[in-house]
Amino acid sequence: MFEQLSRLDPDPILGMLAAYRADPRAHKIDLGVGVYQDELGRTPIMRAVSDAERHLLVTETTKTYQGIAGDPVFNERLLALLLGANHRVLEEDRVRGVQTPGGCGALRIGAELIQRARRAAKVWVSTPTWANHIPLIGGAGLQLAEYPYFDAASGGIDFDAMMDTLSRVGPGDLVLLHGCCHNPTGADLDLGQWRAVTELALKNGFTPYVDVAYQGLADGVEADVAGVRHLLAAVPEAVVASSCSKNFGLYRERAGAVYFIAATRAQADAVQTQAMAAARQIYSMPPAHGAAIVSTILGDATLRADWLEELGEVRGRINAMRTLLAARLAGNAAGKDFSFITRQKGMFSYFGITPQQVTRLREEFAVYMMESTRINLAGITPANIDSLASAVHAVLEPAA
Ligand SMILES: Cc1ncc(COP(=O)(O)O)c(C=O)c1O
Repeated sequence: MFEQLSRLDPDPILGMLAAYRADPRAHKIDLGVGVYQDELGRTPIMRAVSDAERHLLVTETTKTYQGIAGDPVFNERLLALLLGANHRVLEEDRVRGVQTPGGCGALRIGAELIQRARRAAKVWVSTPTWANHIPLIGGAGLQLAEYPYFDAASGGIDFDAMMDTLSRVGPGDLVLLHGCCHNPTGADLDLGQWRAVTELALKNGFTPYVDVAYQGLADGVEADVAGVRHLLAAVPEAVVASSCSKNFGLYRERAGAVYFIAATRAQADAVQTQAMAAARQIYSMPPAHGAAIVSTILGDATLRADWLEELGEVRGRINAMRTLLAARLAGNAAGKDFSFITRQKGMFSYFGITPQQVTRLREEFAVYMMESTRINLAGITPANIDSLASAVHAVLEPAA
């Protein structure tokens, strides 16, 4: 039967990674990478993570199965990080969660649950959105549609166009929103825009489906979810996917959770049983280790403070690279304004150059970025900024 299957092209990101690795030029720069890197190009284990792992090594007594919903203490602590301590849905006891293998698992279990609740539901995603949203959500059998989002001219959001499309989305459909640090563009809704989306959700009756994969990488763990908290306090129902991959640096440990806000406590209970049934059909139980690390950190004042401090350092480095890159590209021969880089949030920016310029950067200067021009600011270091800036200046130079 396997002869029926043809070989698939490599994923564009993995294809680019392979080309980067094979490039012998010593000064090569990888701006395509999807993970945080420090000034030396490493993706380090966070201090609090190592400390929590040491603690778990001596205190863990079993490796038996966890329940299908995972560790309830982890689910609770991660939810408190997301919502804050006194959030309305906590007080009304209308939210339930299931631990999942990373944010991808959360998005998929969220989609499976939506499919169980309403087979014909359409999920509206931003143009552009993270490429993996499409198979994760579409693979559960849901229809996808797009709403305008990124405004290439300003490097921000075309909010009027977004709201115009969403004004025609009604009850039974879902609108996928990036909680913060929009991937791939870095263009985030401000608090006023979150309020306007909240009002529209209430007026039209669509359900928010929120993807929080970068809490703490823009302005801080509280500030980054202020809009999400406002939205979730107002709407009767929502689905929220949360990932610990980036903010705890736990990528390969696959730690995350999906939360369901329902209109009543009884409905929330019912939804959780359905989410568990969906998980049972796919992977049964989530992996324990990453979630145990997160739970240990969030439950210990010293580890938590150290984690927050290191996360602040990560954020500070990314934001410093934003400022540096924008400053070094100012006054370029093409007159292109790169100040939008300093207004965008999180690890990514849409760089907004032409496909020919992307190719020239790669071929002539060994600078790798996605065809979409998504760049990871964490790929920039004090050691490579000079060659990066001069390469960009060179490709921006109008042809003689
Ligand atoms: C927007 C977005 N959502 C969700 C995820 C899921 O991450 P993971 O499954 O690694 O936790 C990512 C990871 O890159 C992401 O960028």
